[in-house]
Amino acid sequence: MKVLVATEKPFAAVAVDGIRKEIEAAGYTLELLEKYTDKQQLLNAVADADALIIRSDKVDAEVLDAAKQLKVVVRAGAGYDNVDLAAATAHDVCVENTPGQNSNAVAELVFGMTVMAVRNMFDGTSGTELKGNSIGIHAFGQVGRNVARIAKGFGMNVNALDPYCPDQVMVEAGVTPVHDIKELYKNNKFVSLHIPATDETRKSVGYDLITLMPKNAVLINTARKEVIDEEGLAKALRERPDIKYVADVKPDNADALKEEFGARVFFTPKKMGAQTAEANINAGIAAARQVVAFLRDGIDRFRVNK
Ligand code: 3PG
Repeated sequence: MKVLVATEKPFAAVAVDGIRKEIEAAGYTLELLEKYTDKQQLLNAVADADALIIRSDKVDAEVLDAAKQLKVVVRAGAGYDNVDLAAATAHDVCVENTPGQNSNAVAELVFGMTVMAVRNMFDGTSGTELKGNSIGIHAFGQVGRNVARIAKGFGMNVNALDPYCPDQVMVEAGVTPVHDIKELYKNNKFVSLHIPATDETRKSVGYDLITLMPKNAVLINTARKEVIDEEGLAKALRERPDIKYVADVKPDNADALKEEFGARVFFTPKKMGAQTAEANINAGIAAARQVVAFLRDGIDRFRVNK
């Protein structure tokens, strides 16, 4: 059995070693396709693969058509909007993610970027502190919960909105549940996005919500660029010169935003949230173990397509 690890943005070498150990211990062969620049390279490599481990790599119908022996795709990470689930189901391929494995890394980056924003991008001028301020966590999943834990360390008041999460879970984490999205944006100087990109959330954060935010607000996006209405964001930033936007996901109109709003906006050059050795090891090894569990024992606990 061949397990292909296809990562346009590679795992740390130490994580690849760990993945290799898991796969070889099960008697399977590991093939590595890193930093590929052309989809054809993926199509060729996947042709005889029984299992595929990916990160944000796109797995669409064309990839699935080319993968004649493929049985399982594990997205080493949380969001699986890069995989065509319907096509995978049609090809009888199980798709899984590895929830929670890289969430601390993403949450730490939220604060890396937030501190940078309130310290004026470290430009030498006087900034402000996080202590005593309120942060609104938009979706209280694994990353949101880590953001809450770290925010408390900064001495922040933590609020969260998540219709899919029981209030009790938030209360137990010392977080105040919020049930109205407008209240979340109106009452928090900092709002951190952790919603997945779905039909329901696409372009769901735009002008109307952003302009509700209090003075000197910072919107932090380590989720997906798709959840932002970019035109609405630009309009909000134009009307509200006090607001900043920092994102681990480069918007489509990044150049225009940078040009118009300068240091009030920041974008990582590549998605960096999960780009730590620890997150790579956690998510990569979890993915390898899930592949083995599926191929060997038919276990599909983290399956996301039905
Ligand atoms: C995730 O959904 O797990 C994160 O966005 C990380 O994505 P990456 O593996 O491409 O860094």
